[in-house]
Amino acid sequence: MTTSSVKELLNSDKFLQEVCVKGWVRTFRSNRFIALNDGSTIKNIQCVVDFENTDEALLKRITTGAAVAIKGTLVESQGKGQSVEIQTTNLEILGDSNPDEYPIQPRKHGFEFLRRNAHLRVRTNTFSAVMRVRSALSFAVHQYFQQNGFYYVNTPIITGSDAEGAGEMFKVTNFETNKAPLNEKGEIDYSQDFFGKQTNLTVSGQLEAETYAMGLGKVYTFGPTFRAENSNTTRHLAEFWMIEPEVAFNDLDANMDLSEDFIKGVLQYVLDNCKDDLEFLENRLLQEEKTKPQAERSEMSLIEKLKFVVDNNFKRVSYTEAIDILRNCKPNKKKKFQYLINEWGADLQSEHERYLVEKHFKCPVILFDYPAKIKAFYMRLNEDGKTVRAMDVLFPGIGEMVGGSQREERLDVLKEKMAALDIHEDELWWYLDTRKFGTAVHSGFGLGFERLVLFTTGMSNIRDVIPFPRTPQNAEF
Ligand code: 4AD
Ligand code: MG
Repeated sequence: MTTSSVKELLNSDKFLQEVCVKGWVRTFRSNRFIALNDGSTIKNIQCVVDFENTDEALLKRITTGAAVAIKGTLVESQGKGQSVEIQTTNLEILGDSNPDEYPIQPRKHGFEFLRRNAHLRVRTNTFSAVMRVRSALSFAVHQYFQQNGFYYVNTPIITGSDAEGAGEMFKVTNFETNKAPLNEKGEIDYSQDFFGKQTNLTVSGQLEAETYAMGLGKVYTFGPTFRAENSNTTRHLAEFWMIEPEVAFNDLDANMDLSEDFIKGVLQYVLDNCKDDLEFLENRLLQEEKTKPQAERSEMSLIEKLKFVVDNNFKRVSYTEAIDILRNCKPNKKKKFQYLINEWGADLQSEHERYLVEKHFKCPVILFDYPAKIKAFYMRLNEDGKTVRAMDVLFPGIGEMVGGSQREERLDVLKEKMAALDIHEDELWWYLDTRKFGTAVHSGFGLGFERLVLFTTGMSNIRDVIPFPRTPQNAEF
């Protein structure tokens, strides 16, 4: 007999058929009712055991967490809360789970406890829902780009370049600690290292993606990205997944259009395809918010929030306008911000981004034309000589979801900017080549995938939307 998934059986109306299902026991009630889950859906299927005719030793082994195979008859359910159930005719324990030791009990666990049990937490409703939504979002990302003429490129994970110039890279070396050979100057001689040069884990695939956009036209990357910044926040990971589209001939306006359309497209996909999980997550969030003071509660439910983003235009605001708003806003005047905004040129902190999005505009905001001084070298300089064609997409509850720009396509300007920042031309000779041979206007952006999952699921800590988070002092599993 073929094994059916719980999802298939719950959607079936072929009653009285003989079925087989395999999964893990969530609860076993009154020596009679097993709530079985196999991960295919947030819902459990109820399997009714004929306890009078079942060996007592076997009944004892039906414990929370045990893996079981159940054969039986699919019938319309008598009980409340489910449409079908299985009248069990044969039950086999595939793997026992000692109830005294199994950490995931059928009650509420704190997220911190579950992070310490990240290998088992996917067996809870919340984490299985989050991970199914994450999977659907991944699919939607590929579908969106593939349907819109983009090619998927895989940029290197080990690189010799520092794309963001922020110096937050994990070093990759084959030298043994304290045994690295030195050159005449007493510095580590990387020419003897595995790659013959200093290398690191990538902080962004952008520079390589740009070279591919200049041949394939429209490309995107979707891969692991690493940052060695020591940020212990609810929005930073040391290892995260970034999506980076790059498009030849797109200017900044087209880039903003793409980011908005892309985010709306993938959210719509999840709204259409993850109804059960979203409803569960919406409820979870509602319960969580009840524990917060009224003022901190969200005005919209999770699904309302997602629909709101899909249905409304993002507000586009220049950095200069944003600074005016922030300089004159209440929290700035009353010195409530940790970092006060006094003058044009200030870098925006997440408290400012969130003020703009959550209090002032109350919708996603695209900020553009930032001061050149606070942005990366590759962004296109505006005619004013002091701002660049940068854009950040800011989201409620998240802050920065996307960072992108129109790229500096003029060789002479790019070289000047690199020189000013002491970036050596011989390190990026291949990048400069794209400006020498058939250079063209082009733009792209990077979207932090976990921040998107965070927003979509209504979770509040980025560590809870990736299976095994990597953060400072934490690389268990
Ligand atoms: O703004 P960032 O640093 O931009 C770039 O890396 C560009 N090269 C992208 C491009 O234009 N192709 O990073 C892009 C996004 C951020 O907006 C944020 O969503 C996410 O990546 N991000 C992180 N997500 C989780 N943990 C971190 N430590 C992150 N750092 C950036
Ligand atoms: Mg950024």
